[in-house]
Amino acid sequence: MADQAGPGTELEQDFDVLVLGAGSGGYACALRAAQLGMRVGLVEKDKVGGTCLHVGCIPTKALLHAAEVADAARESEQFGVHATLDGIDMDGVNGYKDAVVDRLHTGLSGLLKGRGVTTITGSGRLTSPRTVEVDGTTYTATHVVLASGSYAKTLPGLDLDGRVVSSTEALRLTEVPRSVVVLGGGVIGVEFASVWRSFGAEVTVLEALPRLVAAEDEACSKALERAFRKRGITLRTGTAFESVETTDDGVRVHVAGGDVLEADLLLVAVGRGPATDGLGYDDQGVAMERGFVLADERGRTNLDGVHAVGDIVPGLQLAHRGFAQGVLVAEDIAGLDPTPLDEALIPRVTYSDPEVASVGLTEAQAREAHGDAVETLTYDLGGNGKSQILKTQGFVKLVRRTDGPVLGVHMVGSRVGELIGEAQLITGWDAWPEDVAPLVHAHPTQNEALGEAHLALAGKPLHAHS
Ligand code: NAI
Repeated sequence: MADQAGPGTELEQDFDVLVLGAGSGGYACALRAAQLGMRVGLVEKDKVGGTCLHVGCIPTKALLHAAEVADAARESEQFGVHATLDGIDMDGVNGYKDAVVDRLHTGLSGLLKGRGVTTITGSGRLTSPRTVEVDGTTYTATHVVLASGSYAKTLPGLDLDGRVVSSTEALRLTEVPRSVVVLGGGVIGVEFASVWRSFGAEVTVLEALPRLVAAEDEACSKALERAFRKRGITLRTGTAFESVETTDDGVRVHVAGGDVLEADLLLVAVGRGPATDGLGYDDQGVAMERGFVLADERGRTNLDGVHAVGDIVPGLQLAHRGFAQGVLVAEDIAGLDPTPLDEALIPRVTYSDPEVASVGLTEAQAREAHGDAVETLTYDLGGNGKSQILKTQGFVKLVRRTDGPVLGVHMVGSRVGELIGEAQLITGWDAWPEDVAPLVHAHPTQNEALGEAHLALAGKPLHAHS
């Protein structure tokens, strides 16, 4: 069913660009293509906005903000303010979170309508390189963009039920669990562990690898682990999950080595898989690998006129990567010859307390690429006035090529996610520490820590020991 009439009845089923999936990658592509004067159809089986808006980035960050408010009340004495945390009302938290999502959803729907994008509600299937069938109706287009997103994976033999949940169900809890085992110490696991601990739950994170957020610089993992332990979160790193039994009032989680962890709930956060099954991609001969759609640096698949963006394309499964790919594909279709994305320069933020934010190469990756010609500098937030005011600990770690540019920036601490923009410009523009050092940073800001780190790496530390 087409929700919104196109320019004419006939045109409703024939487009320049037909996008399959209205998540971050898909809707960004639709918006940009429409802006470039193309007739655009956008197929979505659920709500426009996809995982990020409805069951990902936005609702989880709303929960994390509620968690921050709870912590502020609990820790208010530290600032000489008398406040008490009387409890968490999950109906209230969910009401706040859902209102944020609803407002953004209404805004996005209006934006798509305003740009003249025809939204087609229903489940789409690729039936040829030029056609998509949606609940029995065939839509045709000169270009089809596959943007069907991802789903929360689980492990073989581990079924989700009432007490064994994925992040999707975890967002809809009506009560704060007394205790939780979080399976997976990646981004999702760490963010939920942070929320639940702030809400008062006993939390254990189970991670098979030796450290949390293992894709980050090792120093960030260590600092996050230290902060989590201090917050009373139990960490079982280097410990693989074996099985779970569901009892009347909880779960018994068996882990490698024979230990059994008991809790109210088990959150499964072991990664997200590409949502490509049964959508006709294989049948039509789209080149795929382990369920992912293979696309080149311009988002073109092996089939002429068929493009792919977002979580179905191997790489970082991040909304902002999807936005950028969507825009790129629309511009490529329009013949604008856009510059391909540099995936290595996509910023990453984990919004736990403390936050972890990074861009570019980790120290280990830089050493692999450049051997000994790598220098690092770690600026402790202990020397940063604003961080002391906020009572947060952490650091800014810079990785540079000797006599060369900054290759990576890695940060831990409250609110450091907001600092990633400058770090991204520095790495994206191949700036040297000596280029950044003369730039004046406002005092007192946390942003100043980035400036001070570059001053120190350029050999002239101000509020840092030589
Ligand atoms: P992930 O891949 O980041 O982490 C999954 C973790 O589970 C890994 O560390 C893995 O070693 C562990 N694991 C797997 N099997 C295990 C087992 N049998 N026993 C113990 N540990 C096991 O996946 P996650 O956290 O589910 O996130 C999925 C995607 O969503 C990621 O690509 C992430 O980038 C994205 N995301 C991004 C956010 C952000 O940017 N703030 C927030 C949430 C998700």
